[in-house]
Amino acid sequence: MRLRFITTSIVAFVVIQALALFFLYSRQNVVTYPPEEQDSKVHILILSSWRSGSSFVGQVFSQHPDVFYLMEPAWHVWVQMHPNGAKVLKMAVRDLVRSTFLCDMSVFDAYMYENRPVSHLFQWEVSRALCSPPMCNYYQRTDLTNDLMCKKHCNMTKFFKMEETCKSYSHVVIKEVRFFELKSLLPLFTDPSLNLKVIHLVRDPRAVLKSRNKSLYALLRDNGIVLGVGDKHIEKDKGEDSNYEVMKEICNSHLLIHELATEQGPDILKQRYMMVRYEDVVREPLKELSAMYKFAGLSLTPKLESWIYNITHGKGTGSAFKITSRNAKSISEAWRTEMPFENILKIQKICGRAMQMLGYELVQSEFEQKLLSRDLIHPQKNQKFSWLTSDEGAT
Ligand SMILES: *[C@@H]1O[C@H](CO)[C@@H](O)[C@H](O)[C@H]1NC(C)=O
Ligand SMILES: *[C@@H]1O[C@H](CO)[C@@H](O)[C@H](O)[C@H]1NC(C)=O
Ligand SMILES: *[C@@H]1O[C@H](CO)[C@@H](O)[C@H](O)[C@H]1NC(C)=O
Repeated sequence: MRLRFITTSIVAFVVIQALALFFLYSRQNVVTYPPEEQDSKVHILILSSWRSGSSFVGQVFSQHPDVFYLMEPAWHVWVQMHPNGAKVLKMAVRDLVRSTFLCDMSVFDAYMYENRPVSHLFQWEVSRALCSPPMCNYYQRTDLTNDLMCKKHCNMTKFFKMEETCKSYSHVVIKEVRFFELKSLLPLFTDPSLNLKVIHLVRDPRAVLKSRNKSLYALLRDNGIVLGVGDKHIEKDKGEDSNYEVMKEICNSHLLIHELATEQGPDILKQRYMMVRYEDVVREPLKELSAMYKFAGLSLTPKLESWIYNITHGKGTGSAFKITSRNAKSISEAWRTEMPFENILKIQKICGRAMQMLGYELVQSEFEQKLLSRDLIHPQKNQKFSWLTSDEGAT
């Protein structure tokens, strides 16, 4: 009697085990990527706008030996389909970015001819990963690379090698200025094949306006796409007006992105969003860049720390930078001495809400503008760094 009871228990136990195993197994089949692989990969989107220091920040990520970095891959979408506006192109841009994160480079076939060398990719030479093995043997993977040398020695590599190269890295980082909202990216945050985090890099709109005004003609085509006026080219003498219109779009996008990521959006987005102001990076580069690395789950090596120190203290000649951060500091404040006050009033009217939200103080008079001892950058609120604790366990 007792023996029968034990036998029945064992049979029942085995049946339950088998069912549990079957259940687990069938669930696993639904998941397309093995969990280990998902956990180890990190995807970072540096979301910024033109003239906001994103090339500099991108470079700091690119030089990390664990990072596969691409700068502005969506440039190809915009160039190839430019009669369309940004609103129409945003889904094509999103899909390009998603595929690139997954190292599926076939997505570029839509925009380029077959069997191309890597040099056909926009700004490829600023990616350390594309200048070192398995892509190119000129540099070691742990070297700090120089874009001019890379362009000279690595430009013949076939484009398709990027896929294998990308797969050999734990972190894929993409810098983009061609997103004007985050809503269309929401599905990527719950996508099981991605582990996406966003660094939203912003800059004082008054400084951006000044910087954009200097390279007005270079930005005309992009302006047309931002404003959705298609092939109706913006006339050169209307360049400055269109600049204000574009600034309006950019400031609105900062509002939309920041509000969604900190207030209205789902929790998963809040934990995976970090806002960074260019001015803070310029003032305390090592502190801000370390915080970004930490957010991304990267560690600062002594070599990188020394390199960051050098480039932000005017040393490191022959570095990949056209702007050192030291220059950037004087450039970033140039608007206060050089920009006509009436223009400042105009941009503050357009961008006032975004500026208040991001902590940039408005000036009320020309006197206040020129009084350089008056700091117009408010300290960041602590709550913005909630990710420091909430994400600690995950990385
Ligand atoms: C690579 O660079 C060399 C010299 O810098 C140039 O002559 C050659 O045309 C380039 N090749 C490609 C495929 O871009
Ligand atoms: C833009 O440049 C033009 C010509 O150099 C100048 O007249 C204008 O004041 C500048 N605007 C701003 C906002 O700096
Ligand atoms: C930084 O500069 C110092 C002094 O010029 C130099 O010895 C060092 O190698 C540099 N570090 C890097 C990583 O380039």
